[in-house]
Amino acid sequence: MHATGPQHLSVIGDALIEVDDAGVIVDVRSLGPADGDEVACDVRLKPGTMLMPGFVDTHLHAPQWPQLGSGLDLPLERWLHELTFPLEARFANVGLAATVYNDMVPELLSLGTTSVVYHSSVHREATLVLADACVRHGQRALVGRVAMDHPDATPEWYRDCDAASAVASSAGSIDDIMALGSSRVAPIITPRFIPACTDETLAGLGRLAAETDVIVQTHCSESDWQHGAVFERFGVTDTMALDGFGLLRDHTVLAHATHLTADDADRIIEVGSGVAHCPMSNSYFANAVFPARRHIAAGMRVGLGTDVAGGPSPSIAEQVAHAVTVSRMLHDGVDPGGASGRDAASISMTTAFWMATLGGADLAGLPVGVFKRGRHFDAIVVDEPTAISGVDGLTAEVRLERIIRSLVRSRPRRVWVDGVDVTPHR
Ligand code: GUN
Ligand code: FE
Repeated sequence: MHATGPQHLSVIGDALIEVDDAGVIVDVRSLGPADGDEVACDVRLKPGTMLMPGFVDTHLHAPQWPQLGSGLDLPLERWLHELTFPLEARFANVGLAATVYNDMVPELLSLGTTSVVYHSSVHREATLVLADACVRHGQRALVGRVAMDHPDATPEWYRDCDAASAVASSAGSIDDIMALGSSRVAPIITPRFIPACTDETLAGLGRLAAETDVIVQTHCSESDWQHGAVFERFGVTDTMALDGFGLLRDHTVLAHATHLTADDADRIIEVGSGVAHCPMSNSYFANAVFPARRHIAAGMRVGLGTDVAGGPSPSIAEQVAHAVTVSRMLHDGVDPGGASGRDAASISMTTAFWMATLGGADLAGLPVGVFKRGRHFDAIVVDEPTAISGVDGLTAEVRLERIIRSLVRSRPRRVWVDGVDVTPHR
């Protein structure tokens, strides 16, 4: 089962997928149920199981792993200063980083997350420990050392000391990660968000992106506070300010982006950037629901993100379910007898699943997310909930809904990245 587009879910019956030694899919074809017995293959799936593309998490803060589900009653700015920055600062200790990241990466794989776009901390060493944990456990990843140096929005004990050092450490971290020589783990340029960065750092990272062609991620227009703070500083929206610094590029991953204007959305589509939609985190911090349906219909690249730990669940399956839920709330409105919702705002489970797989892969420029010749074989196999007796002939979409709901309670049986079995044994 895979989604080949936001509205296209397909189940290939009795499929044979051929994968080469590099993990690239060379053929996908449907055999008759009887022909299948004749074919010699390395892995034969049991009846009652379903193969799906592995999940792509387009936004996760690795050093926030120890505080999943903490402090979500606070507004974003206080949550950052009171809980998050003190925790992230502790990742100056590489021993702590190794312990946390070697716990987190296998846990994410066991939930079916085969690719992650990570925010690390400001620390170059701990960032390399994270990249190394991904290589060791076999996860596909983009790993970003966080740049943050603005004295007004970051504490003295947790920031880059100045712009020159912020840009140099980001460049150095790119070299560190490239030197691992992994085809699956790559760097990503990561100004945390505009409020945390000085103009010099933003401009320097824009130049670094142009020089290296390494893609960019940041937070954009998340919450009234962030959107307002950027507007106050520059007199333009977050999106336009990022564009001015050369940070809005092909495959730039903008986390949240809940408060975009129509012009912002047009510009994002024009340059090939896109949004990491974090429906669960947005329910706490973003002061709005991201109108996924409208932006996807307009051609924007959109993936799903957990935003650990602003989002309290590391499961992409849970984000898929929640993305559908919040879209319904946007559609219907949330105030009984009060303001009504927005027309045509609700999304289907298929659209949410597409964001979690192919949509996220295309956003971050990863060659995965769908079972097609030329894509890499990152996949999970799940038990399909047994049909209720007397009910058969379920549509593909109903089968997907049931699988997603069951993945919220149980884990995939097996997980592959690049054709390699990376199922954690724990
Ligand atoms: N904006 C800047 N930093 C963060 C963060 O760590 N989490 C979230 N949700 N938003 C941010
Ligand atoms: Fe975030």
